[in-house]
Amino acid sequence: MIATATPARDGAVLFAAAGCANCHTDRPHHGAPLAGGRALVTVFGTFFTPNISPDPDFGIGRWSDGDFIRALRRGISPAGRDYYPSFPYPAFTEMSDDDILAIKRYIFSVPAQRQPDREHELRFPYRIRAGIKVWKILYLREGTLDADPDESKEWNRGAYLVRAVVHCGECHTPRDWLGGIETARRFAGANAAVDGMKAPDITPDPRALGRWSVDDLASYLDDGLTPSGDSAGGAMAEVIRGTSALSAGDRRAIAVYMKAQTPIPPTLSHEVAKGD
Ligand code: HEC
Ligand code: HEC
Repeated sequence: MIATATPARDGAVLFAAAGCANCHTDRPHHGAPLAGGRALVTVFGTFFTPNISPDPDFGIGRWSDGDFIRALRRGISPAGRDYYPSFPYPAFTEMSDDDILAIKRYIFSVPAQRQPDREHELRFPYRIRAGIKVWKILYLREGTLDADPDESKEWNRGAYLVRAVVHCGECHTPRDWLGGIETARRFAGANAAVDGMKAPDITPDPRALGRWSVDDLASYLDDGLTPSGDSAGGAMAEVIRGTSALSAGDRRAIAVYMKAQTPIPPTLSHEVAKGD
C-alpha cells in the first residue's frame, strides 16, 4: 500500500516539487513554459528536452492517462519507444498513479505551445536508443514505493518526496560509466544532471550534513539559505523553487528522512568527469 502519496488536488505543487519545468522550460533562453528545447549537457552528449505542453501536435495533448502513467512509470512512449533516463523516470516510477495523474491534469491546464522538438546530440554508442532496453534491465526498478511499516509516518512521507518526487538522489548520487546510480553511495555527492555543477554529499556525515539540524535542512528547502548564510545556486536554486511550494510539514518530512540516512564520506573526487 502507498501510504505516503499526495492528495490529487495538489497537481501544481507536485509539478513544482518534481522540477518538470526546470528541464522542460528553456529558462536560460526565455523559452515558453513546457515547450522544451532546454539543453541538458551530460557525459553522454546533449539532450534537448521535448515539448510537454498540451499542444496536440507538438506536445502531449493527445496523450491518454494511461500513456502518461506509462511514460513516468516505465519510461515508454505511446509509440513504444524507450526513453533515456535523463528523463528521471527511474525516480518518478515510485509515484502513485493519483499523483502522476494530478501532474497530468496540471500540465493540461497550462497553454499549449507550438514548438517542435529538437533532436538530441549524443555520442556513439549512446545515440542508439536500443541500448536503453539493456540499461533498464540493469537499473530500472519499476513500481510505486511501498511504505516501511517500521518507520514513522513522517519518515515515510519524506522517503516518498525525496525518492519519487523531488528525486534528490538523481543529482546527489555518483553514477557508474553507464549512467546508473551507485545505490551503495546514495546521496554521497555527484555532478548534477542539469548543468554539470557539483551536487555535494547530503548524507549526515560530519563533512556533509552532519552539522545541519532537521530545522536547518527544512528551512534551506524553503529559502535556500545554508546554516552559514550562503544561498543555494544553480540547479539547487531551481529545486528549492519547487520545495518552497510544499507544505512546511512536507519539507520537515524530507529533512527527517535525509537525517536518517547512513553517513557516507564525500566522494566527489572519483566520480564522472564534468559534462562539457
Ligand atoms: C532532469 C531533467 C528532466 C526532468 C526533471 C523531467 N524531465 Fe521529462 N524528459 C526529460 C528528457 C531529457 C526527455 C526526453 C527523453 C528521451 O528523448 O528519451 C523527457 C521526456 C519526457 C516526456 C516524453 C515526451 C514525449 O514527447 O515523448 C514526458 C511526458 C515528460 N518528460 C514529462 C515530465 C514530467 C511530467 C516531469 C516532472 C514530473 C518531467 N518530465 C521531469 C528530462 C526531464
Ligand atoms: C537537479 C539536481 C538536484 C536535485 C534534484 C537536488 N539537488 Fe541539492 N544540490 C544540487 C546542486 C547542484 C547543489 C550545489 C548548490 C550550490 O553549490 O549552491 C545542491 C546543494 C544542496 C545542499 C547544500 C549542501 C551544502 O553542503 O551546502 C543540500 C542540503 C541539498 N542540495 C539537498 C537536496 C535535497 C534534500 C534534495 C531533494 C529534496 C536535493 N538537494 C535535490 C543539485 C540538486
